Parts: sequence; C-alpha cells; structure tokens
Amino acid sequence: MRNPLDLTGRRLLVTGASADSDIGREICRTLAGLGAALTLVGRRADALEATRALLDGPERHGVAPFDLTDLDAIPGWMKGLAEAGGPFAGLVHSASEQGYSVLRQVNRAQFDRYFTLNVGASLMLARGFHQKGVVAPGGGSIVYVGSVAGLKGQKGRSLYAASKAALVSVAQSLALELADKRIRVNVVAPAVVLGAKAEKQFAMLPAEQNAALAAAHPLGYGAPQDVADAVAYLLADSGRWVTGTVLPVDGGFTAG
Ligand SMILES: NC(=O)c1ccc[n+]([C@@H]2O[C@H](COP(=O)([O-])OP(=O)(O)OC[C@H]3O[C@@H](n4cnc5c(N)ncnc54)[C@H](OP(=O)(O)O)[C@@H]3O)[C@@H](O)[C@H]2O)c1
Repeated sequence: MRNPLDLTGRRLLVTGASADSDIGREICRTLAGLGAALTLVGRRADALEATRALLDGPERHGVAPFDLTDLDAIPGWMKGLAEAGGPFAGLVHSASEQGYSVLRQVNRAQFDRYFTLNVGASLMLARGFHQKGVVAPGGGSIVYVGSVAGLKGQKGRSLYAASKAALVSVAQSLALELADKRIRVNVVAPAVVLGAKAEKQFAMLPAEQNAALAAAHPLGYGAPQDVADAVAYLLADSGRWVTGTVLPVDGGFTAG
C-alpha cells in the first residue's frame, strides 16, 4: 500500500536538532522513523550525537555542528555537506532564538539575535539549498518552524513575534521564486508545546496569565510529536502540492 509519508532514501537537513530541544529532537525521531537519512545541525556536537543515538538506524545519520548566525558561510557549508554525503531532498529549520522582549529592554543586540537566526538563517539556508548539487534532482521541500506568535499578537514578545511573522513572508516569496526548481517552502506554526521551554514560560507568568494561556488552547497544549507530524507531512509526498503556506498546529489557538 502507498504511504505518502514514506521518506525512505531521502536525505534531510534538520537544524535545532540538539537532544535538549524538545521539538527538534522529536522532528528528528519522526523523520528517521519514516526512513529519512538525517544531517543534524546545532552548535554542540555532543548534543547532536545524543540525538543521533536515539534515532532509528543511527549509522544512517550524520551530525554537522555549525553556528547558523554565520550567515554568509551557510551556502558554502551546505555545498560541502552535499559534496561529502549527497544532495538533500529537504530541510527543516527549527533552531530559533526564543523568549520575551519587553519594550523597555528592546535594543539593537536583541533585534540582531532574533532576526539573524530566525530570519537571516532561514533565507541563507534556502539560498544554500537551491544550489546545483545541493538540492536533489527532483527538487525538495523546505519547512520553517515558525510560531503562532507570528500570526497573532503576544504581549512582551514583539521581537520573537515579528521574526516569526517574517518567516511566513519569506516562505511565500520563496515559494514563488523556487517553484520552477520544484522546491516547496512552508511554515509550521505551533502554539504552546509541552516541554522544557513551556515549563520555563509557565514559571515566568503570573497565575492569571497562565490560566488565560491555557484557556486560549481549546484542545489543550500540544506535544512535540504534533509538530513533528506536521513537518513530516510537508516534507513528504503528502505535501507535494503545498507551497507558500503556513500551517498552524495549535490546538485551536488561532481559531478564536
Ligand atoms: N517550545 C514551544 O512551545 C514552541 C512554540 C511555538 C514555536 N516553537 C518553535 O519550535 C522550534 C523548536 O523549539 P524548541 O523549544 O524545541 O527549541 P529549543 O529548545 O530552544 O532549541 C533550539 C535549538 O536551536 C539550536 N541553536 C540555537 N542557536 C543556534 C545557532 N546559532 N546555530 C545553530 N543552532 C542553534 C540549539 O542547539 P545548540 O544550543 O546546540 O546550538 C537547539 O537545538 C523553534 O523554532 C521555536 O521557535 C516552539
């Protein structure tokens, strides 16, 4: 029987793949379980190796420690990865600067941090991916992990929210620019996903704000698996006619 989610034989690059990233780690586990061969990216080699050890067929996957804020180096680095291991059928950019940025503390350094990793690296990864020899001959799929913060205002999070909103715009424009190369570009936008980051967020907020946050998720909070499944859908043949979109995976957060 046909399985439209099958990724057997596809080489995929995943950023934010360190073992202590709840969502990145689960994306890797899911994609490996569907048969893909992964290149795991983050800054810490040991944290990437820890993810690799959790995956189906660990020997099928590789680690590529790299600081994605080195924007101009990204295309050359990706070319080198493709020359060493073969072209990629897709990439997932899950690495992100996250957090709060209350207006009285916003400054240039903070702006640069959010926009370099969340937006600049997204563009440069796409630039690297679309090079001859880097993208697989049949084309490929780029999935950016955004956030509902990019779709709906969030108090105290203007920088994070603006950077995730920019991702949607990047995906729409690149979808048009790259369609003739059969490269699709989409965003998955999660709401609150249970894990270490969410626990930190809950601890920071006063009780009434926590109650309001919970009430804003009609289906309750999500699990990393919910995001990973949506990413897999967009990477695999199941998403072959989908480009330039944003898919909220949010328990109903943006419905209200
Ligand atoms: N958690 C949530 O509730 C939630 C909700 C909505 C959206 N999201 C989005 O989901 C994605 C994953 O979230 P998460 O909470 O699982 O992430 P996380 O725990 O904050 O992980 C961030 C990852 O990015 C890597 N990274 C950070 N800076 C980097 C750099 N300069 N170069 C290369 N890698 C870098 C980190 O590894 P190293 O430290 O080893 O570099 C780590 O693997 C993010 O895009 C986030 O915005 C999360």
